[in-house]
Amino acid sequence: MKIIIAVDGFASTGKSTLARQLAQKMGYTYIDTGAMYRAVTLYFLDNTISLKNKNQIEEALLQIELAFMQQKHTGKQITLLNGLNVEEPIRSFRVSNFVSEVSTLKQVRTFLVKQQQQMGAQKGIVMDGRDIGTVVFPQAELKLFITAQPKVRAERRFYEMKEMGIVTTLQEVEKNLQHRDTIDTTRTISPLKKAADAVVIDNSHLTIDEQLDRAMQLAKQVILSLTNKAHPPH
Ligand code: DC
Repeated sequence: MKIIIAVDGFASTGKSTLARQLAQKMGYTYIDTGAMYRAVTLYFLDNTISLKNKNQIEEALLQIELAFMQQKHTGKQITLLNGLNVEEPIRSFRVSNFVSEVSTLKQVRTFLVKQQQQMGAQKGIVMDGRDIGTVVFPQAELKLFITAQPKVRAERRFYEMKEMGIVTTLQEVEKNLQHRDTIDTTRTISPLKKAADAVVIDNSHLTIDEQLDRAMQLAKQVILSLTNKAHPPH
């Protein structure tokens, strides 16, 4: 039996790491929806699309084709924008500073949510984002909501960016995270919020392995209880 696992939470809580590892362990497909919003943002920036011009946005979206390649050994997802690998530029500050504004747009959300729902139609998927358990798959069999203390989040992002060779300061990272938290939680359409039936995992003091174990246990429990429901033991 395959299920849909929705992983939501604030930026830099380690939810992508968890979702990716969980998918790999379960033999599921992993989808990072943040990368989709980032790729659209990159296209808008590169083509100087005005966020105030609805027609221009509509036309731009028609030109955007998104796809993912899965790296076999790491399970890492490579994002393709119109056939080009954009994994690096979509993580830049240029995109990070603009992506929340772009993701407030109704046209953009409708465009991406539709694609995300198609990707999960066959189940066997772990999808991470902000609105997966509330909007994209409100019927997901398992919903996780990942949190961590703000300081821990900023430090994680800072070291992640450093590793990628992006020059920045901890203060700049903290500022960007706060800015995104505010926009993500207060936007009118699909704001980030915990689904009523989501399980919260605060990973501030958990290792990557510990949080994976916890999530795996929850997934196994859900699958077992659904299997028992479908085929009650005699
Ligand atoms: O997960 P991330 O930090 O890469 O996401 C980038 C931005 O995309 C985030 O600030 C909000 C937006 N986003 C969203 O609105 N809905 C999603 N399902 C995923 C991301």
